[in-house]
Amino acid sequence: MPDATILGIESSCDETGAAVVRSGREVLSNVVASQITTHQPYGGVVPELASREHLRAIVPVVRQALAEAKHTYESVDAIAVTQGPGLTGALLVGISFAKALAFALEKPLIAVNHLEGHIHAVLLERQSGNGDLEFPVLALVVSGGHTHLYLARREGTSWTYQNIGHTRDDAAGEAFDKVAKLLGLGYPGGPIIDRLAPHGDPAGVKFQTPQLKHRDRRDREKTDADPEHPRFDFSYSGIKTAVLRHVKVQNLSPAIEARRKALAGIDEPKIEDYLHLCDRQTLDLVASFQRSIVDDLVARTLAAAREHDVRTLFVSGGVAANQELRQSFARKAEMEGLPLFFPSRALSTDNAAMIAAAAYPKFLAKEFVSMDFSAEAGMRLGAVVRSCSP
Ligand code: KG4
Ligand code: ZN
Repeated sequence: MPDATILGIESSCDETGAAVVRSGREVLSNVVASQITTHQPYGGVVPELASREHLRAIVPVVRQALAEAKHTYESVDAIAVTQGPGLTGALLVGISFAKALAFALEKPLIAVNHLEGHIHAVLLERQSGNGDLEFPVLALVVSGGHTHLYLARREGTSWTYQNIGHTRDDAAGEAFDKVAKLLGLGYPGGPIIDRLAPHGDPAGVKFQTPQLKHRDRRDREKTDADPEHPRFDFSYSGIKTAVLRHVKVQNLSPAIEARRKALAGIDEPKIEDYLHLCDRQTLDLVASFQRSIVDDLVARTLAAAREHDVRTLFVSGGVAANQELRQSFARKAEMEGLPLFFPSRALSTDNAAMIAAAAYPKFLAKEFVSMDFSAEAGMRLGAVVRSCSP
């Protein structure tokens, strides 16, 4: 396959990313400017602030990525950019910049689905080449905005995707963020809960596994019946409500308020600060919440893997950085004899190397976009596989 060096640009949410990747796998540079400190006081991403921060960061981030890769604007073969899903204003910053570069440099422009980027992040670290990869691959993309299961196949150099499950309400990362906020632990919640959970008892609080027996009306309207396979949907808003109920019943609110205030007064709180501010009850709650989400993600994904007789499992997206999730998947996949691949923890969360990686097959297939393409906030990946209730 011909070599190609692609400059990738990512600006779908709260990270401005630029990266230079050779032939879909060799990361020459990967620069990410995080906006966490901008959004932290608000406890979540503020779309207007995100666009403003992307505008500020995009030029220096792209320049740094080229410099670190020892490349120039002229020496890359193509420009790739995230088209969606994401925040429209944020996406448009990356897209406008990528279009301007492609136009001025007369380089091909490639539009990439952010979710496909998360899936291809896995390939960046498979050193053995991907000729040995066995298909179909089952890919779980688990992030702040998505908990999606895709069956991925390869036709020639192109990849195709079928969605066989998604969250019916909150994404898993969203549940981590909301529960952390609820417990006065700050934003983003996933990394904090990840570090606190080993200090609590995961059996301390009993949470019910989400039951998804009945498809709601909106869902039924969106889907046709597929007698072949059930869907493998997720739901995490119930567990968030259960945490809220637990907080009320156990009267944890005064301690939560005190913790929130204390953490707001610490510049960059360390794990010791969090531990100092969390009693046993809170640590048990955090550990039990994480255990419940991890068990559900692993069980549903492996059930889907068996149903579709897949040959390989990918787990990617921000929540794939979670230690307990990685360990649990590793254990269970091994028991099933299923090859399992994660991106490194750094490439699990949003970055532009994954966008440049996903763009490579499109470069080979000459799947370029014209200057009139635009952001697609609700962009889907592949076909939705339709089915009756699981
Ligand atoms: O993929 P990502 O960077 O952005 C989206 O596309 O959403 O994922 C961000 C999400 C956030 O909800 C964050 O709390 C969660 O991933 N996350 C984690 C961890 N690191 C990030 N969740 C659990 N454990 C982690 N270590
Ligand atoms: Zn993402």
